[in-house]
Amino acid sequence: LREIACKKDLQGKKILVTAGPTQEAVDPVRYLTNHSTGKMGYALARCAMLRGADVTLVTGPTAITPPPFVQTVAVTSAEEMYQEVTKRAAEQNAIIMAAAVADYRPATVSAEKQKKQAGDAVLPLSRTKDILAYLGEHKPAGQFLCGFSMETQHMLENSRAKLKQKHLDMICANNLKVAGAGFGTDTNVVTLIQAQKEQELPLQSKEAVGHAILDVIAKTLS
Ligand code: CTP
Ligand code: CA
Repeated sequence: LREIACKKDLQGKKILVTAGPTQEAVDPVRYLTNHSTGKMGYALARCAMLRGADVTLVTGPTAITPPPFVQTVAVTSAEEMYQEVTKRAAEQNAIIMAAAVADYRPATVSAEKQKKQAGDAVLPLSRTKDILAYLGEHKPAGQFLCGFSMETQHMLENSRAKLKQKHLDMICANNLKVAGAGFGTDTNVVTLIQAQKEQELPLQSKEAVGHAILDVIAKTLS
């Protein structure tokens, strides 16, 4: 009940959250993906819903149940996520890209199962579209655009560069090497980076991290 009774400081705001990995097909049997489970993005969608926002969750394949009272759009590939996010982008007050979008997909998708050959093989890859960079280039006035950044080294420098290059209002930086952070855990350790402000959050639940991110967004939008 305490959760339901939380402050409704996002009432009337439209927020789109992406979550989970994408899957890039190789052939009818195989795909390329990453270790994202969707927990951080789903926690964000749930927190935003509890705070009164009109939430759309665009999610790659995950094993978790979407939060109630959230419009959930299931996608598989980076290209599908790009289509479903960009067509809804203009009307959003805030967009949070928590999804781990694949940077590459197989250059061609084979219609038939690939049979193994003698010896090693090479899989040609093509780059996917950078959804967040596109959103940054086409950002309507007043929209809050938030990215995530997963790094194993030079976390702050690399994340600050992404903030600038993708024209973001904030990037939530994760260091994959810190205990309690990253893939599959129920907790996270995140630094919130804005152009003029950096806030290192303590180890806490993904729900609490979600609320801290939404505190910044709610304050900026009000
Ligand atoms: N992102 C995206 N579309 C892509 C790749 C990434 O929208 N094709 C978004 C992610 O959802 C995340 C942010 O960009 O919010 C940063 O993702 P990350 O993988 O940390 O950085 P990249 O810019 O992809 O750079 P690299 O993986 O080389 O570090
Ligand atoms: Ca990437």
